[in-house]
Amino acid sequence: MPKRVYIETYGCQMNVADSEVVMSILSKAGYTPTSEINDAGLILINTCSIRDNAEQRIWGRLEVFKHLKKKKRDLKIGIIGCMAERLKEKLLEKDQLVDIVVGPDAYRELPSLVAEAEAGHKAVNVLLSREETYADISPVRMDKNGVSSFVSIMRGCNNMCAYCVVPYVRGAERSRNHESIISEVKELFDNGYRDVTLLGQNVDSYKWEEGQSVVGFPELLQKVALVDPLLRVRFSTSHPKDISDELLHTMARHNNICKHIHLPAQSGSSRILKLMNREYSREWYMERVKAIRTILPECALSTDMITGFCTESEEDHKESLSLMEWAGFDFAYMFKYNERPGTRAARKFKDDVPEEIKSARLSEMIALQNKNSAKLKKNDIGMIFDVLIEGISKRSAEYLSGRTSQNKVVVFPRNELSKGCYARILIERTTSATLIGRSI
Ligand code: 5AD
Ligand code: SF4
Repeated sequence: MPKRVYIETYGCQMNVADSEVVMSILSKAGYTPTSEINDAGLILINTCSIRDNAEQRIWGRLEVFKHLKKKKRDLKIGIIGCMAERLKEKLLEKDQLVDIVVGPDAYRELPSLVAEAEAGHKAVNVLLSREETYADISPVRMDKNGVSSFVSIMRGCNNMCAYCVVPYVRGAERSRNHESIISEVKELFDNGYRDVTLLGQNVDSYKWEEGQSVVGFPELLQKVALVDPLLRVRFSTSHPKDISDELLHTMARHNNICKHIHLPAQSGSSRILKLMNREYSREWYMERVKAIRTILPECALSTDMITGFCTESEEDHKESLSLMEWAGFDFAYMFKYNERPGTRAARKFKDDVPEEIKSARLSEMIALQNKNSAKLKKNDIGMIFDVLIEGISKRSAEYLSGRTSQNKVVVFPRNELSKGCYARILIERTTSATLIGRSI
């Protein structure tokens, strides 16, 4: 019987990319992937620790796996990723259920750890590394559409945002060799992929040094854009303190670098930003948005916001709302502050905004964002976009679905065009999440 592995992935795009690396490592060790959990001899959960509710979901899943393990005694269960790194051996205590615990920098050890577990021992490796980038590993693509894919360009994070657990679970920042990035992108293109997203916690600080030569992010982005004009290039995430005009000009020069920037503001209050250790002020953020609007007039902008961070007053909250109103984000991910053990905020500040106030502020923020994005979507009616087709629309087999350079989802009546092709679409109407148009 072939050994089958089932991987469930939670959290950010970085974890999606990591699961593909894990699959590559395990396939060399004789495992084949399965999408059917009941066929698996090994179940891995690639986990997220960013907020407590992300971890609670994993505990919930483990309850379900308990039943599977009762039916199949030799089934092995592994927790990998950020929660593995944060909780380490503590994960083994859960009802003798978990066999393997592996942190994000130890995936190369998975075959031997799995073998150890198969021999009946608990297997743990949560060592963080200063060098590991998995540069030489060719990920096994597990995406559904075969058109868009993620490429990891760096790992870890050196920014110490007071609320954030990431530097503790993903270790120090390190960049991947640009040559290995380019060859991965070329391979994707040759296999029919037409949209790649370069991933890092803070892509603007990408830096590959070799002897005298240094490759920074704008140069890397340009190299990727030059792989082929038919390949769309995206990136995530930018940090407002580091995003440079040079990057914006590079984006402007290349039609295939997508005109969308995810620029997490977190708060609109300079006082809160300082407590968060974000290293920029409200004014700095606004200046960066102005630069984007000037250099890239067609660029879409999205953000992350946190409500109810330590000491946040009604006035600070209003400043977050007014920044959102001013910036006109096409999209925003909004969260209530959740204290994470061991972070700077947990050690130094009191989590003193009551839960009801956090919730009320979050609702107010979501309502504002909904209003803003509906307004912005209306502006797209009558516009023409180049849409990269990703497949059949989920709602109706009569429609195709794709995205614009600005990362907006467009659906339009099916025609002879297919996945991976570009279509010129005139937008005729919108729903809350989608633009609807027709091919011209
Ligand atoms: N509480 C709430 N939101 C958080 N984020 C990160 N840490 C926390 C936390 N402790 C949010 C930030 C970040 C996004 C990925 O998650 O907005 O940009
Ligand atoms: Fe991604 Fe952060 Fe969650 Fe880890 S903790 S999976 S880096 S969002």
